[in-house]
Amino acid sequence: MTDTKVSLGPVTLATPLVAASGTVGSVVEFTSTTDFSKYGAAVVKSVAPEPWEGRPAPRIAPVVNGMLNGIGIQNPGIDEWIVSYGDQVADIETDVWGSVVAHDVDGFGRVAAAMESVPFAAIEVNLSCPNLDGLPFALDASSTAEVIASVRAATERPIGAKLTSDAYNIGEIASAAVDAGADWLVVANTVRGASIDVATRRPLLSGLIGGYSGEPIRPIAVRAILDVRAALPDVPIVGCGGVSHADHAVELMLAGADAIGIGSAHFADPRIATKIMRGLERYARRNGIDRLAELKGAYEPW
Ligand SMILES: Cc1cc2nc3c(=O)[nH]c(=O)nc-3n(C[C@H](O)[C@H](O)[C@H](O)COP(=O)(O)O)c2cc1C
Repeated sequence: MTDTKVSLGPVTLATPLVAASGTVGSVVEFTSTTDFSKYGAAVVKSVAPEPWEGRPAPRIAPVVNGMLNGIGIQNPGIDEWIVSYGDQVADIETDVWGSVVAHDVDGFGRVAAAMESVPFAAIEVNLSCPNLDGLPFALDASSTAEVIASVRAATERPIGAKLTSDAYNIGEIASAAVDAGADWLVVANTVRGASIDVATRRPLLSGLIGGYSGEPIRPIAVRAILDVRAALPDVPIVGCGGVSHADHAVELMLAGADAIGIGSAHFADPRIATKIMRGLERYARRNGIDRLAELKGAYEPW
């Protein structure tokens, strides 16, 4: 039997798979859809200090084997979220992580403080949404540090900082997040993208530019993981981007990820985690690997 446990510093996950934020709703609604023991953790959709309406339709579109989304992080705000789902989180056997988002630094801390009443095993910080000045926090090291420090002051729970591969200096941003108190890094979120229908000449998203995800972004995720691993050899990484098969998960681990986020693949197959775990165990058996954690960073350089 392969040992599937992986460590993210202060937490140990039963499997390396993490259901990525925004692709499994509140997690509570998703538990009846699939076998949740296949996930080491599942992340709720990002929640803000107040309700966000999100962008008008169209806000999701398939593009070249991947998908564009410009949902605008529609969410009910943390107070309403707790009323609707807070009590049910304790019944979920897999670890559930909160995900905080806000347009200003204090807002992140307020949401994290409110989440203290919910038994989340960790708090993920979505640094990839635009701040009030317009640019995502995760494009700038000092903005990233301020946000993480605000969440760190609000909670003693483990913190994952969710970065963007759009940052060319992602290693520097990752270091700023860790220095400010993040326990691990999530590498990464969607990639900025856009598409236009040549027949109607209309953009596929009402907001024109959105987040691109799914298989085509996997090489970008691999590159971002390599960059962060080079900057921070010992900090835990949840690699995320373009994983829909066990081989993809292995690829991200070989690049340096400890655990693997599964996002868009849930839309094609809500039971994808079961297939990926079966494939990972088969890969381990065939390659004489006792512990999946051995795969981390184990690529062979030329
Ligand atoms: C429809 C949709 C909604 C998403 N919403 C969020 C969100 O609320 N918070 C967040 O941190 N990431 C969000 N993401 C990003 C995913 O968690 C993930 O990081 C990204 O899609 C890359 O992984 P993938 O290629 O496996 O989908 C969303 C992605 C999609 C496709």
